[in-house]
Amino acid sequence: MEQISIIDSKHYVDQEVQIKGWVANKRSSGKIAFLELRDGSAFFQGVVLKNEVGDELFDQAIHLNQETSVVITGTIQEDTRSKFGYEIHVTGIEVLGTSEDYPITPKEHGTDFLMDHRHLWLRSSKQHAIMLVRNELIRATYEFFNDKGFVNIDSPILTAVAGENTTDLFHIDYFDEDAYLAQTGQLHAEAGAMAFGNVFTFGPTFRAEKSKTRRHLTEFWMVEPEMAFVHQEESLKIQEEYVSYLVQSVLDHCDYALDVLDRDRETLEKYTKLPYPRISYDEAVELLQKNDFDVEWGVDFGSPEETFIANQYEQPVFIVNYPKEIKPFYMPTHPEREDIVLCADLIAPEGYGEIIGGSERESDYETLRQNIIDFGLDVKDYEWYLDLRRYGSVSTSGFGLGLERAVTWITGTKHIRESIPFPRLLNRLTP
Ligand code: 4AD
Ligand code: MG
Repeated sequence: MEQISIIDSKHYVDQEVQIKGWVANKRSSGKIAFLELRDGSAFFQGVVLKNEVGDELFDQAIHLNQETSVVITGTIQEDTRSKFGYEIHVTGIEVLGTSEDYPITPKEHGTDFLMDHRHLWLRSSKQHAIMLVRNELIRATYEFFNDKGFVNIDSPILTAVAGENTTDLFHIDYFDEDAYLAQTGQLHAEAGAMAFGNVFTFGPTFRAEKSKTRRHLTEFWMVEPEMAFVHQEESLKIQEEYVSYLVQSVLDHCDYALDVLDRDRETLEKYTKLPYPRISYDEAVELLQKNDFDVEWGVDFGSPEETFIANQYEQPVFIVNYPKEIKPFYMPTHPEREDIVLCADLIAPEGYGEIIGGSERESDYETLRQNIIDFGLDVKDYEWYLDLRRYGSVSTSGFGLGLERAVTWITGTKHIRESIPFPRLLNRLTP
């Protein structure tokens, strides 16, 4: 008898198969029992009919506890009432591992409780679906950049330099030296671009964010492409093409997850249309002021401002050329304006906020060195980075996409903590 995954059920209609999985839930009346089964690929229903299987097996079925691991034997049938479309008519149950008092019951639980049980919460259908989408975004990322000839360069997690700012750093003792957990892989990616032309890093990054918001993690994964000989306009084209590709890949490969999440496909379709609109920081400030926002030129936008701007469009929107004073040291000044830099943030629709931050990079040795000093950083920590401008400097551009921000947006999840298997937050280091 063939052992199959639930997700492949459609190929086995009317066939007797075996499925190894867990009992996620069950309900029964006198003569019929419904087992909600999951096997890691999907969830579906097992039907146990008393008059078909006999008293003994029926009795075993109705006494299965939640999260008992089982080998189920049965016949796959179409199930027109469920979105999934198939079910199994059970003819045999073998228990592999028992389960007593599983803490996450089908009733409602508070967030703290669920987060304390994240190692178990991951088994539930919504969390499972979100992780399937996350997996697809990772797969599509490698595919997109490899197809374009980008080389994957891993950047270090332990660093001696601040990549973005000095306020959100996690400090660690590195033998007798000060070290930090990487805020970004960008500076090392820039070295990679000088060696390989087009590169991308993909790894965990860390920010000691003291804020409790639905958009911030202290540990998150970032995709950071870096491209030699590339200027802002070309970089924006790659960014929008990449984001559109991510959304399209989810539409193409995550049917099951989108059903579970009840994510509207027509909405997602709109996000695959290119180009994405662009608005300058100046224009954004004007628009906000006209609409009674209390913003001055020179401040960074918070989430209400970003959401308002995003709501003017049906696609993600680029806000380009922010004030120099609110952006990191490596961004170059606009050729015609001293007070702004060549950069862009991509703001997701529906209030999900910034999903990409990127810029051109200052390529002039003296200017970059002065920026490092002006930002209060120690030049000697950045000598290696300055070498990239000493030896054959060229313009490079790059950007960072926050994976969990993208997952949260594309899945339509309320809080970013559900978009990573084990979230790290201000007050959360376990499980
Ligand atoms: O805008 P950020 O800080 O840009 C950089 O780190 C650049 N060095 C990237 C580059 O040019 N290579 O961060 C990039 C993205 C943000 O747009 C956001 O999606 C995500 O990283 N991000 C966070 N995601 C979750 N939690 C946080 N605390 C995040 N901070 C940034
Ligand atoms: Mg940013």
